Amino acid sequence: MDSADIADELTEVLVTEAEIREKLAELSRRIELDYAGRNVLLVGVLRGAVMVMADLARELKIDIEMDWMAVSSYGSGTKSSGVVRILKDLDTDLQGRHVLIVEDIIDSGLTLSWLRQNLGSRGAESVEICALLRKPDAAKVEVDVRYLGFDIPNEFVVGYGLDYAERFRNLRDVAILAPHVYA
Ligand code: PRP
Repeated sequence: MDSADIADELTEVLVTEAEIREKLAELSRRIELDYAGRNVLLVGVLRGAVMVMADLARELKIDIEMDWMAVSSYGSGTKSSGVVRILKDLDTDLQGRHVLIVEDIIDSGLTLSWLRQNLGSRGAESVEICALLRKPDAAKVEVDVRYLGFDIPNEFVVGYGLDYAERFRNLRDVAILAPHVYA
């Protein structure tokens, strides 16, 4: 789905498909250098990270493995508690592994800060983070991101994996959702 197909439901395209592709290529070149000679495990966080994982993994010119987790914050929809529940765990033993967590967005930072600690406690040799988007103005905790795509304003964004009520994940760009859609 292109932004033009649903122009009346968006107010602004923040990051285009082409900009995402270019950024993932740039990040991939850094990742290839940093992980040369190492067997890296990409850990995608369902469901938002599906697009970035698929494109990053294919862009990388080194061997990688992939695994997936699904997590959910406790509480009623708001992600304020910082307590995270594992809905689907990894199948991979992390002992001695170089783990690169792949995420679509860092909002409050609570999910990733919990996840990094959780994966680190399983004996991983290293745990780093690659996130396509970050909202600096929404941060509740600082997350050390090794590979970052774009800082974006604290707006309701959808597309490229990001949803509103499960819609818009298949939008090619990242765009601000028009308020009338969720008001
Ligand atoms: C999003 C995103 C991160 C998390 C970031 O997932 O994919 O996992 O929120 O928010 P935080 O920095 O405030 O913790 P979401 O819970 O919306 O699930 P989804 O990926 O299935 O859409």
